[in-house]
Amino acid sequence: MTQQTVEDLLAGPDVHAITVTVDGEQHTGTVSSRKLLVHFLRDDLDRRGPKIGCDTGNCGACTVKWDGTLVKSCMVLAVQADGTEVETAASLAEEDGTLNDLQRSFKEHHALQCGYCTSGMLMTATDFLASGEEVSNASVRRALKGNICRCTGYENIVNAICAAGGADAPLPHGREAGHEEVTA
Ligand code: FES
Ligand code: FES
Repeated sequence: MTQQTVEDLLAGPDVHAITVTVDGEQHTGTVSSRKLLVHFLRDDLDRRGPKIGCDTGNCGACTVKWDGTLVKSCMVLAVQADGTEVETAASLAEEDGTLNDLQRSFKEHHALQCGYCTSGMLMTATDFLASGEEVSNASVRRALKGNICRCTGYENIVNAICAAGGADAPLPHGREAGHEEVTA
């Protein structure tokens, strides 16, 4: 019996044509039934916003909106996304690249360091701010329970989301009003 190559397997019956609208653009592709949505987005469509931090639904780095619901895209099969709409953090800025209020707030509050968690954080925060829930330090922290950041200690992320939602939040040291930034 001849051994099947990966190419043979992919060319076999386990190949499915799917059409997914991502950030307003329709994309068609072929995927195996095992392929995860996050891999389809990143590897097939070159959408690098959703990151792969754990592949087990724990870190939230791959968070996207799927037909209006916040999901971890490593927990969704690409074939399940056939005929649906996916939004990534790339959809948040204006077409000319102007950051939205939340993204600007992340920038002003130094809410990222390596940035690996940021796309997922922005998607979760966007969903939270649209929910109408009262914005407070505690409610933001609750909303972020499925998103892990390994760098920032969360304080600046929480403050950025609070500020974008109209709640009081301090700017980080060196960014307060009246502070003169020292340049070399
Ligand atoms: S990569 Fe999906 S939750 Fe971590
Ligand atoms: S900024 Fe590095 S993981 Fe959050």
